[in-house]
Amino acid sequence: MPVITCIDDLKRLYKRRVPKMFYDYAEAGSYTEQTFRENTSDFDKIRPRQRVAVDMTGRTTESVMIGQKVAMPVALAPVGMTGMQCADGEIKAARAAEAFGVPFTLSTMSICSIEDIAEHTKAPFWFQLYVMKDEDFVDSAIERARKAGCSALMLTLDLQILGQRHKDLKNGLSAPPKLTLPNILNMMTKPRWSLQMLGTQRRTFRNIAGHVKGVDDMSSLMSWTNSQFDPKLDWSKVARIRDQWGGKLILKGINDPEDARIAADFGADALIVSNHGGRQLDGALSSIRMLPPILRAVGDKIEVHLDSGIRSGQDVFKALALGAKSTYIGRSFIYGLGAMGQEGVTRALDVIQKELDITMALSGVQKATDIARQHVLVPHDFEGNWV
Ligand code: GLV
Repeated sequence: MPVITCIDDLKRLYKRRVPKMFYDYAEAGSYTEQTFRENTSDFDKIRPRQRVAVDMTGRTTESVMIGQKVAMPVALAPVGMTGMQCADGEIKAARAAEAFGVPFTLSTMSICSIEDIAEHTKAPFWFQLYVMKDEDFVDSAIERARKAGCSALMLTLDLQILGQRHKDLKNGLSAPPKLTLPNILNMMTKPRWSLQMLGTQRRTFRNIAGHVKGVDDMSSLMSWTNSQFDPKLDWSKVARIRDQWGGKLILKGINDPEDARIAADFGADALIVSNHGGRQLDGALSSIRMLPPILRAVGDKIEVHLDSGIRSGQDVFKALALGAKSTYIGRSFIYGLGAMGQEGVTRALDVIQKELDITMALSGVQKATDIARQHVLVPHDFEGNWV
């Protein structure tokens, strides 16, 4: 068993064990990848404050997200094609999250279906919805999520059209991979992945297959996103979905104070400050940099969460210190999943929880819910002077 001490260890194993096409899918931003890079490098600018001689016993990372108790304020973000990173990947990630006590969010663009997850887990999971032109699909997805006992609906607002990720075009990304010579040769170097994939039936977009009218090319994320996603999505459609769902609602993909104000007045339970991991609008500012102005705009009208760039428990600590109530990991758990399946997701969660806990101890904080602005140092020019 390799010794795993940090998320980067999992990433190295992941790169060795998963076909290049899927590694590249996860490990990419759009266009120049500026936002993708800055999502992580901006975290490096924030520093924890070293405090001493503070009783560090009785620490806890427990918290609450939209009224739900969590072992730490870190949920699994919805990640498209997770079941291509590892056979039955969404089921494995959901089971790891359940055992750990953090929420799992299933993407609309998943390989395993809502029903697959419901069948293999007991804890209620969250379902992330993309709005399609086909209203029947939206209606039935909401009903399927309700029937599966999902305890929150997460509506993603920043991807009605797919940002261009150069590598996906060059690799001819598809699920399952097309049997071209380069793909076959690459898969032959990934025997563990290939054998497990041959052992499952779950190799296409099972949330969509058979549920959306008129999808010609089911295997290409790009072609069916472009043909099926509803480019007319606006706040009135969001309101329709909110009313139809009637349960806990999380709005994902807010990266501007103006949109945050609208979201806060909207009656949602939480918003996620997110730029989709740098995969959509390249050049947009990092989520961690946008967090303070967004919080100033919404005050405590709505619970504010953050994703994009979290690769360690220290990053979680910094996001909480800047005022996020909670965070999400996407790539950090995907590295674990591709490296070691369900066990790898558990390892990723363990690593992050330990880093958070030790950072709390050395910063003089006992409870994750007490982490506040006073626990970090932030350069004066961190937010920048943008007009
Ligand atoms: C889907 O959510 C993607 O970013 O590819």
